[in-house]
Amino acid sequence: MHFPTPLSLLLLGAGALALPASPQAPLSVPHAPKDAQVLVLGGGMAGITAARALHAAGVTDVVVVEAGAELGGRMQSHRFGARGREYTVELGANWVQGTRRGDGPENPVWTLAKKHGLKTQKSKYFDGLTTYNESGQVDFRHHVKASSKNFDRLVASAGMRVPEGLVDASARTGYSLTGSHPHTAEEMAAEYYQFDWEFTTSPEESSWLACAWNNNHTFDTFSEVNLMSLDGRGFKTLVQAEAAAFLKPSQIRLNSVVTRIKYDAHGVEVTLADDTTLTAEYVICTFSLGVLQHGDVEFEPALPSWKVEAIHSMTMGEYTKIFLQFPENFWFPTETALFASRTRGRYPVWQSLDHAHFLPGSGILFGTVTGAFARRIAALPRAQVLQEVLDTLRTMFPGRAIPPPDAFFYKPWGADPRFRGAYATWPPGFVAEHHVNLRADVGAWGVAGADAQGRGQEAGRVWFAGEAGSLRYFGYLHGAYFEGADIGARVAQCVLRRGDCRGLEHVEVVRNVRPYGGV
Ligand SMILES: Cc1cc2nc3c(=O)[nH]c(=O)nc-3n(C[C@H](O)[C@H](O)[C@H](O)COP(=O)(O)OP(=O)(O)OC[C@H]3O[C@@H](n4cnc5c(N)ncnc54)[C@H](O)[C@@H]3O)c2cc1C
Ligand SMILES: *[C@@H]1O[C@H](CO)[C@@H](O)[C@H](O)[C@H]1NC(C)=O
Ligand SMILES: *[C@@H]1O[C@H](CO)[C@@H](O)[C@H](O)[C@H]1NC(C)=O
Repeated sequence: MHFPTPLSLLLLGAGALALPASPQAPLSVPHAPKDAQVLVLGGGMAGITAARALHAAGVTDVVVVEAGAELGGRMQSHRFGARGREYTVELGANWVQGTRRGDGPENPVWTLAKKHGLKTQKSKYFDGLTTYNESGQVDFRHHVKASSKNFDRLVASAGMRVPEGLVDASARTGYSLTGSHPHTAEEMAAEYYQFDWEFTTSPEESSWLACAWNNNHTFDTFSEVNLMSLDGRGFKTLVQAEAAAFLKPSQIRLNSVVTRIKYDAHGVEVTLADDTTLTAEYVICTFSLGVLQHGDVEFEPALPSWKVEAIHSMTMGEYTKIFLQFPENFWFPTETALFASRTRGRYPVWQSLDHAHFLPGSGILFGTVTGAFARRIAALPRAQVLQEVLDTLRTMFPGRAIPPPDAFFYKPWGADPRFRGAYATWPPGFVAEHHVNLRADVGAWGVAGADAQGRGQEAGRVWFAGEAGSLRYFGYLHGAYFEGADIGARVAQCVLRRGDCRGLEHVEVVRNVRPYGGV
């Protein structure tokens, strides 16, 4: 499909004559009229925020290309329940995580929630938690309290290493060095609740330093408040209402799966699954880390090796909520329960939506599994998962007759080709230079002014934005927001200055600070 040549593009072409042309950087005047100045690939939080930043800078010739049938990405609501008892539940993001502390900075997701009148309710993860082990209800809240203290020590010790430039290690190393050694099922469940439930990965699989600054930037900077969306429009309404305020329907192409991104000195050509091609001066690709790792989209020319290494060095986490609706509430009166299985991570966290604060009378309870255990259930038949879940509930509530549920649903995010996982998590082997390279644009047509590391090079044609690229807030909606806003503003400068703009730095070869000797 071809859009008429926009007026802005014609004016831009004329203006080009007035500007001094640098001999190294060919003018980015398109050879042929483009379908848009910028294609934003993906209509989640990062994509819509990037489009908004472009728009705010005066670049309005933008088209958003989205594979799904609606905007929102990993904000995905679902009508769940038996006939006549359906409720809106969130399969993906559900909480505004951190609001505002005093007159400090405000979480932009909270700003959006207020702007669009989102219905929310505070979640209390630690007040009045009910705890269970394989013998039934057992009060081990003292272990949960201790695990909070252990986490504080982990985060504080990281805070001493970062400014000194000390090497990263796994969060397990950090826990051990600061005196935390969980052994029993209860201690492990308490640690899981504090750590894996947030990061999706275990302490062994996670960076000590990055988990600490990720936690601090969200919960210290913004606040410890977690607001659960209970909005009947779905949490995604934040992205959809925001898009409706500045994008015309013709600027949003839904049900459009990108299969190839071709780029050269003159621009980009994006191919869709139905063989439609769209051309533009720049693209901003906001596909998840999982989608990039899986090679769902072909890049032509292939992405440079420094980019490929960065993509494969971060981890796409798994986080699966398992929803059950029962005829009536037989479970705990608190918001949340923690189950200590002797297998760490086996159906550990349970949240009641049939609670005075949330959806009273709904009969809905949901459990969460993460990481390797979430990948395990993704590979099982649904009937087996249901059986295991009911067995777990019967273990937690011995002697209580637990009927089969009236409704049962879960979405394994890793199996969805639009996402291939839940959200990014930072492993110990992902170093600072990998992060720089994960964010960096590719497809620069000139290297004028670049130093040996490629810093200060001309901007590329293909830019990347999304939660995974956020140094401070990877994994979170606000991470996606900040990345979209930053990259959108940078690309706007490239468009407005006709290519006379800088790309992000990248590192050609990531080396050890000091090579291992004699290995
Ligand atoms: C289960 C779960 C729970 C979460 N809980 C929270 C929470 O409570 N609070 C919080 O802050 N964050 C939470 N998150 C994380 C949050 O959802 C993400 O960080 C955020 O939504 C990512 O936004 P994004 O724009 O970077 O990516 P996405 O939302 O993934 O947007 C990318 C878009 O690209 C599209 N796409 C992919 N491939 C193609 C293709 N080939 N062609 C065209 N389009 C394509 C996708 O359909 C998608 O719409 C959760 C995530 C999950 C999965
Ligand atoms: C559950 O905890 C109680 C109290 O500490 C203990 O007696 C019991 O053995 C535990 N059950 C299992 C299966 O570990
Ligand atoms: C995180 O915050 C704590 C408490 O304010 C602080 O002691 C620590 O140094 C911080 N850690 C990092 C990595 O910033």
